[in-house]
Amino acid sequence: MKALVLAGGTGTRLRPITHTAAKQLVPVANKPVLFYGIESLVAAGITDLGIIVGDTEEEIRAAVGDGRAFGATVTYIRQERALGLAHAVLVARDYLAQDDFVMYLGDNFIVGGINELVRKFEAEKPDADILLTRVDDPSVFGVVELDATGRVVRLQEKPPEPASDLALVGVYLFTPAIHEAVRAIRPSRRGELEITDAIQELVDRGLTVRSTTITGYWKDTGNVPDMLEVNRSVLDTIEPCLEGSVDEASEIIGRVRVGRGARVRRSRIVGPAVIGDDAVVTDSYVGPSTSVAENCVIESSEIEFSIVLAGSSLKGVGRIEASLIGKDVQVSRALHTPRAHRLVLGDHSKVQITP
Ligand code: TTP
Repeated sequence: MKALVLAGGTGTRLRPITHTAAKQLVPVANKPVLFYGIESLVAAGITDLGIIVGDTEEEIRAAVGDGRAFGATVTYIRQERALGLAHAVLVARDYLAQDDFVMYLGDNFIVGGINELVRKFEAEKPDADILLTRVDDPSVFGVVELDATGRVVRLQEKPPEPASDLALVGVYLFTPAIHEAVRAIRPSRRGELEITDAIQELVDRGLTVRSTTITGYWKDTGNVPDMLEVNRSVLDTIEPCLEGSVDEASEIIGRVRVGRGARVRRSRIVGPAVIGDDAVVTDSYVGPSTSVAENCVIESSEIEFSIVLAGSSLKGVGRIEASLIGKDVQVSRALHTPRAHRLVLGDHSKVQITP
């Protein structure tokens, strides 16, 4: 069995981060979200991975390499344009050959792994098995209708009037039957080859599409609130570990990881939180559910329920909450009057200011 990991896409919902970086590499507890997916595939015994890449190919290649670090072998498959999840299957045709495969969306986060699913699929051998979860607002997801025996009868992409509260989770198990289906479908109204249409095609052809409803935690990290929420939930499970230096005047409370070479001076860190390698935290407060990546500088500031990417600095900026801060960002206090906000913001930035 192989895996097809989708790490292309445009990531419009995570702009401006995705103007310059792959959304699958945004760190959750200081580890790229994509790595959690790769690890759960390898844990399920799947080590032959095809990774779909688009404009951010270089960055994904640099992070994942040949896969050896994960105990896997990686083949990169270029998708020139993000033309949909089913299009990704189309471009991976040669790589996938006649093998069954798991399709895994590289920005999805599933707690509990996929071992059981893979075992069930291999034992029962349906033509496809899709993962589902119950959601409060199905209209923003791919929604699935089941018959009384639990077989899939209908799929709809973001329906205004959903027929059920069962949404597709970003993991699908396919046999080679999917290849004919992705060739048979036409682009949807948004111009993409939808995987929901391809699975509907399997159903319409009379093939067996099973579903498995997960009860564990699942999130698509495609937008900022969900990204922060996944970060919060992963931080809740970290093992405390102080590898850097913490001075006498500082206080560390709860689950906190301080990375190698990091320095904490006259500060209070209330976990769950992680401070990356070589980061420096001085005269500051870092509150729960916060990940500060490597080489960041936090000085005379307060930050909580946030993710800060590598190399950024916050200096004298009061309190920051519920924020996603990109790489090498500088946030500092304006030194002179008049009291005014001075901003240099990239395209599609979002800033909320308390006057
Ligand atoms: P989405 O989050 O559905 O799409 P997107 O990345 O274009 O983001 P947005 O909706 O914010 O514009 O994609 C799910 C995953 O699949 C994600 O990891 C990107 C990947 N993907 C591809 O690799 N190729 C594609 O053609 C598409 C649409 C997505």
